[in-house]
Amino acid sequence: MLVLGIETSCDESAAAVVEDGRRVRSSVIFSQVPLHQPYGGVVPEIASRSHVEKIGGVIGEAMREAFASGAGGGPVLPEWWRQIDAVAVTYGPGLASSLIVGLSAAKGLALRLGKPLVGINHIEAHLHSVFLAPSAPEPLETGPLLGLVVSGGHTCWIDSDRPGRYRIIGQTLDDAAGEAFDKAAKLLGLGYPGGPAIDRVARQAARRDAVAFPKGSPRPGNPALGDMRAELCVSFSGLKTALMYRLREHPPRDEAEVAEIAAAYQEAIVEALAERCARALRGSRYRALAVGGGVSLNRRLRERLHEVTADAGVTLLMAEPRFCGDNAAMIAGLAGMGVGVTGEEAMRLDVAPALEAGE
Ligand code: KG4
Ligand code: ZN
Repeated sequence: MLVLGIETSCDESAAAVVEDGRRVRSSVIFSQVPLHQPYGGVVPEIASRSHVEKIGGVIGEAMREAFASGAGGGPVLPEWWRQIDAVAVTYGPGLASSLIVGLSAAKGLALRLGKPLVGINHIEAHLHSVFLAPSAPEPLETGPLLGLVVSGGHTCWIDSDRPGRYRIIGQTLDDAAGEAFDKAAKLLGLGYPGGPAIDRVARQAARRDAVAFPKGSPRPGNPALGDMRAELCVSFSGLKTALMYRLREHPPRDEAEVAEIAAAYQEAIVEALAERCARALRGSRYRALAVGGGVSLNRRLRERLHEVTADAGVTLLMAEPRFCGDNAAMIAGLAGMGVGVTGEEAMRLDVAPALEAGE
C-alpha cells in the first residue's frame, strides 16, 4: 500500500510517499518560516499564496525522491503515478485558506489518477508520527496509549486504543504550548519561531527558578472545560500576562537575566505538560505515552517526559525530529493504516479548520 500524502494546514507545504503506513519512501517539506519571520507569526494570506506556488513542486519532488534511482531533476514518470494506491490529505484542523490549497490539489490528483482520496485529521496524524521511526513498535500492538500533541496550534491529551480510535481527555483552554513559547520569545526579543529560541537560551541559564510563573492550572468552573477533567487541562494565557508584567516591572539587565527568565518560563510550560501526563498515566491502563508536534522537540520537555514515563513504567514514544513538526509522512502514514475519510465522502470533504481529534 503506497500512499502519497499532502499537508498544507499551516505554514509548511509538504508531500510524502509512505509504504504500508510506516516506511517513509520520501518526505519533502517546504518551510515558510522566512516568509513569516518579519511579522513575528504566520500571516494567513502569505501562507496560502505560498502554498499555491509551492505545492506542485513539492509533490513532484516527493515523487522523484520516492521512485527515481538517480539524484535530482527530471519529470515524474507516468509509471510512478500508477504505483500510488491512494492520495491522502489533511482537511483539518488548521488555517482554512491554507487547508484549501492542499485539499484541492489532492482532489485534483486523485481524480486525474483515478485513485482513492483519503481525508486525514492533522492532530491524529501527529500522534501517528511516532510510528514512522523504524525502531517504533507496531501501532496495532502498542495501545492503549496516551497521546500528547503539542504544537503551535494545539495542546491536547488523547486516549487511543488503536489507530483510528481517538478521544480527547484534556486540552488547553486557551493558548497552545507552542503559541505560549512564541509569544514569550517575542516579548523577550528572541525572534520567531520562539520555541527553538527559548529552548536554546534557557540552556544557558544558571537556574530555572528565578521567576515563579503561574503553573498553567485552569480556574475551577471555567466553562471551556466542558466535561473534561480540570486536572488534565491547562491554561497558558496567564503565563504570558505574568511575563509581560514581569518584564515591565523588572526589565532584564543583561543576557544572563533574559536566559533565567526564559528558563523559568519554559519550566512552567514543561511542568504543566509533564504533570498532566503523570496524572493521566497514574494507575491507568496505558502502555505507552506517544508525543507529537513541534514542541516535542523541546529538550527540557523530552527530559521530563523520560522521567515521567520511567516512573509510570510505560514506554515513551517520540517522533524523529524531522517528523515532530508538520510533515506529510504522518498524513500518508495514518492513511496507510486504514484511517481517514474515504470514498464518496472524501471527494465531498470541505476544509474543517476547527476539527478535533476523534471527530
Ligand atoms: O507542529 P508544528 O511544526 O506546527 C504546528 O502545527 O503548529 O509546531 C510549531 C511550534 C511553534 O510554536 C514552535 O515555536 C514550537 O513548535 N517549537 C518548539 C521547539 N521547536 C519548535 N517549542 C519549544 N521548544 C522547541 N525546541
Ligand atoms: Zn501540526
